Amino acid sequence: MNQETAMSKLRLRNVAKHFIAPRTGQLTTAVTDVNLDIETGEFVCIVGPSGCGKSTVLNLIAGLDTPTSGTIEANGAPIVAPGADRGVMFQDYALMPWMSVHDNIGFGLNYGTPGEGLTREQREKRIRHFVDLVRLNGSEKKYPHQLSGGMRQRVALARLLANGPDILLMDEPLGALDSQTRLILQVELLRIWGETAPREQRKTAIFITHDIEEAVFLGDRVVVMSTHPGRVKAIIPVDLPRPRSEHIRADPRFGQLSDEIWDLIRDEAYRAIDGTEAPAGPKATAVEKVE
Ligand SMILES: Nc1ncnc2c1ncn2[C@@H]1O[C@H](COP(=O)(O)OP(=O)(O)O)[C@@H](O)[C@H]1O
Ligand SMILES: [Mg+2]
Repeated sequence: MNQETAMSKLRLRNVAKHFIAPRTGQLTTAVTDVNLDIETGEFVCIVGPSGCGKSTVLNLIAGLDTPTSGTIEANGAPIVAPGADRGVMFQDYALMPWMSVHDNIGFGLNYGTPGEGLTREQREKRIRHFVDLVRLNGSEKKYPHQLSGGMRQRVALARLLANGPDILLMDEPLGALDSQTRLILQVELLRIWGETAPREQRKTAIFITHDIEEAVFLGDRVVVMSTHPGRVKAIIPVDLPRPRSEHIRADPRFGQLSDEIWDLIRDEAYRAIDGTEAPAGPKATAVEKVE
């Protein structure tokens, strides 16, 4: 293992994924030329217009699918299948409707490899720890249909963490929530992720979102993707201090970064709606001071 490899938690090299439509036989290049190095404890957000291949990239890292060409490595070893080191969370909760909050959170521990070698007491203790962490105390016996969308995603997050993955893969996990719940859960997510802990103790996180401000709020870096074919257009470092609170949105730097990312995707976003060109306008630059 060379030194460069040792530094990257995840490494994608020249990754491409093609799909062949079953009926027409038509070839779609979902993504191409994806090169990305992600360090331990980094929180990386991926934004881009619909269909640019965000979910494809995440599924490849999860090992749910294999690249057509290129390589993906976690800790220097090629990813060939799903593994307990990588946990996935989606927009649609994916909870078992017939199981209580407690049992949903404990599902992987009680029925999967994450619970191997743990006694019943150890598993219970672990479930209680994550119930506390996502603030679901008192709701352990409830069923998913008795919960709000925000609470369901707290359950999904606790279940993901209870399985003890090294790498968190989140595909628009807050996408179905109303905007206020979403803002609250963004703050909660950073707290739960361990924003105040030293970087090497944090989980490595990849978070997909449509929402530029969400990406800037959460991320250490924002990967901006473009479509037809899906590729990485830019990688923007987010130089905002941590821990971050809601108020960081009022920081001029927050607005600058959001504008910069919007400028990168606005043309495609306009075209994606109805094929129209984006109106010409002043490009976002540094925030001007108005006397
Ligand atoms: N299983 C599949 N079969 C065929 N085409 C697919 C499949 N999954 C994704 N695609 C295509 O690949 C492209 C990228 O899709 P996706 O990764 O879902 O984009 P995003 O998550 O950014 O909206 C799209 O054109 C989509 O239609
Ligand atoms: Mg998607």
